[in-house]
Amino acid sequence: MATLLAGCGGAQSALAPAGLEGERVAALIGWLATGGGLIWAVVVGASVAAVRRRAAMSEPSARQLIVVGGVLFPTVVLAVLLYYGLYLMSELRQGPAQRQVAISGERFWWRIRYLDGMAGAPAAADSPPSAPSGPALFETANELRLPVGEITELLLTSPDVIHSFWVPALAGKMDLVPGHVTRLYVQPTRVGRYRGSCAEFCGAGHALMGMEVVVMERAAFDAWLAAQQRPSVDDSAAARLFVARGCGGCHTVRGTQADGRIGPDLTHIGSRRLLGAAVAPATAANLARFIRGPQAMKPGAQMPPFGMLPAPEIEMLAQWLAGLK
Ligand code: CUA
Repeated sequence: MATLLAGCGGAQSALAPAGLEGERVAALIGWLATGGGLIWAVVVGASVAAVRRRAAMSEPSARQLIVVGGVLFPTVVLAVLLYYGLYLMSELRQGPAQRQVAISGERFWWRIRYLDGMAGAPAAADSPPSAPSGPALFETANELRLPVGEITELLLTSPDVIHSFWVPALAGKMDLVPGHVTRLYVQPTRVGRYRGSCAEFCGAGHALMGMEVVVMERAAFDAWLAAQQRPSVDDSAAARLFVARGCGGCHTVRGTQADGRIGPDLTHIGSRRLLGAAVAPATAANLARFIRGPQAMKPGAQMPPFGMLPAPEIEMLAQWLAGLK
């Protein structure tokens, strides 16, 4: 038991909550496990007692046992649990949010756009779930940063197949459905890095569709937000090579001529800890490996391999990308 439970901690665990919804889900898990354990003990105890005693029960007391143990008890327990679950649910699925982030499930990574127009808005207690407001401040990928203690509304969708957004420490799962926008409100309670993954089979790269959520103090978050909005204004030889070799057909690096929309925005990829939807640390060496053969690091990746480029060019591109802080 202890060995099994030792695997339940860490950055991707519903039992180590770091968000309001995550805490409630963990409490629900605790209640269900405790209640289930107690009922199991009583039933097993009754079975053992019945085998040991062997004396026949009188008909009235047998009937009483069936009515109380088989009808009354489960009805009351399930009604209480249902009520508790509904109560938790009504608390969970509502704002008001201090900011909105639009997340699109791509094959097989997360497109993340921070939306303008809500930051610092006064929080009215009864405001309805809001429509996406304002254009995107900037786009990033696979690393979601949130300020601690504040409510962020995630607007989730997908262009083609269904994914499921799941950061167990923060909140429950929410599907990303083509043609719909689903909403998830997250309110982190602890600073730190948490791991999320896609929880709905979406294709060959599903198992490697991870992400990292970085929960920061407000001041650090504001500094990050400001830095992310700045383009990497760059006319270096590497930036021109990036465009000349076609990388800009799929990727955007704001401030250069690369403005592709198919793959992840790489404007500040050097500021992200992981690459390829959290398959490896975003070091220059790993970026070079990814450019040479994405499928070797991430089976199912849609990016074609660029191993035919001369080694010095790959090295130059990788160094440049790693430096895009
Ligand atoms: Cu995306 Cu599974």
